[in-house]
Amino acid sequence: CLWVRNFQLKRRLPGPFAWPLVGNAFQLGQMPHIAFTKLAKKYGNVYQIRLGCSDVVVLNGDKVIRQALIQHSTEFAGRPNFASFQFVAEGKSMTFTNYSRQWRMHRKIAQTTIRAFSSANSQTKKAFEQQIVGEATELVEILLKLSAQEKYFDPAHELTVAAANVICALCFGKRYGHDDVEFREILHKVHQFGQTVGAGSLVDVMPWLQTFPNPVRSIFKKFKCLNEEFFAFIKNKVEEHRQSFDPQVTRDMSDAIIGVIDMAEGDMELTRTHTEATVADMIGAGMDTVSTALHWLILLLAKHPEIQTKLHKVVDSAVGRNRLPSLEDRTHMAYVEAFIYETMRFTSFVPVTIPHSTTSDVTVNDLYIPKDTVVFINQWSVNHDPVIWKDPHTFNPSRFLDDNGVLDKDLTNNVMIFSAGKRRCIGDQIAKVEIFLIFAILLHQCTFEKCPDEDFSLNCTYGLVLKPLGYKIRARFRGELDKSQ
Ligand code: HEM
Repeated sequence: CLWVRNFQLKRRLPGPFAWPLVGNAFQLGQMPHIAFTKLAKKYGNVYQIRLGCSDVVVLNGDKVIRQALIQHSTEFAGRPNFASFQFVAEGKSMTFTNYSRQWRMHRKIAQTTIRAFSSANSQTKKAFEQQIVGEATELVEILLKLSAQEKYFDPAHELTVAAANVICALCFGKRYGHDDVEFREILHKVHQFGQTVGAGSLVDVMPWLQTFPNPVRSIFKKFKCLNEEFFAFIKNKVEEHRQSFDPQVTRDMSDAIIGVIDMAEGDMELTRTHTEATVADMIGAGMDTVSTALHWLILLLAKHPEIQTKLHKVVDSAVGRNRLPSLEDRTHMAYVEAFIYETMRFTSFVPVTIPHSTTSDVTVNDLYIPKDTVVFINQWSVNHDPVIWKDPHTFNPSRFLDDNGVLDKDLTNNVMIFSAGKRRCIGDQIAKVEIFLIFAILLHQCTFEKCPDEDFSLNCTYGLVLKPLGYKIRARFRGELDKSQ
């Protein structure tokens, strides 16, 4: 009967025993996405854990995650009301706000603005491309300078500045020098933010640790502080834009957002703080992710010299040696694209998305999940799902090429790093353009060699993104452009 069926559906989801107060927090270890995948082997791809005071449903594997995020996109489009989310952009961040009519409007404005400055027409596409080429060429110069006298160095900072400058130029029409002290501090704050908020982090799941003196309390204080300082930096830049705002001339994304949100104040539910929060969302999301992608790409390139040689050949035959690679070359460099997709799949450097929550009761895989449940989406498990990937733990870019060397789009679509559904990353297209162009230019200009004293392990730190532990490389110049051709 219906009552029995409802009772069966509503019973507790499978999952491990949860300890009082902490639940399963200490079972997640250093790499929660790996722990989640192991638990899925025991309890199935949909199970429940308890983290501090929240019940969390963890979704694993390609089939279940796509079923949830695509077929039940609205039901899984929420965000939990974690205390830490309120610290971000004074609680006005689009990224960390629950699903609502206002959130939909906010997201639409952010999406339209990104498109207007990156792909709306051939002029904006060209301007965006030129900005990236400028950053990439300066990056090459700096990497070669740092490699002079046979030196090995950690490229993390330089890669971060290059990626951060692309998004800053879009948002503020301004880029920063690699040694700029103020910028260095902002980059450090974004880095710390990403290290503190990864799914399962203490700030999210045990907010009561804030209330009495204990070693973790300082993490909360620092997290609150770094959010305030980062947002103050953004507010300051947006305010400068307001002072010189001319509705006839939209200089950058800050102007565009001021033009929509500030100018409509009163007519919309969004306020001036939402204008600033939108810019903060873009800068925050666009900096650390793209630079981490570049960091892994260079590591894997130096780790696999035979693959690097093949990539050099592909780039040289598509581009030649008398000009730099451009976006138009993308279709002629399937192996370069394959290397990028394999890096995203293999490292899954955003292993778990930002936590979701259910907006209404929903059933996945015949298991009932009530409204307002916190949900973790284990992207790593999609990218290592043995049902869709052969030898998932082997790094093999060629898996994405068919017998004719053409990129297999069905397979590349199976890689999940930007999430899916209503909360899918809105910067995915600009991120892919940035990563391709910077990587292609680095490849065209340099050979990367790993420091012989290091084992070049794939060890990393867990957070919103997985970052490789520091590694050292050296870049060798591949030769001047041949202008005579
Ligand atoms: C959200 C990945 C670059 C803007 C996300 C999410 C992921 C992601 C996994 C969370 C989705 C979810 O919760 O289900 C990435 C990766 C990037 C990248 C891997 C680079 C390789 C960017 C860039 C921008 C951006 C360049 C902006 C300019 C955003 C925003 C959200 C988001 C605003 C929040 C969306 C929402 O909550 O509705 N991204 N991202 N991202 N990303 Fe990205």
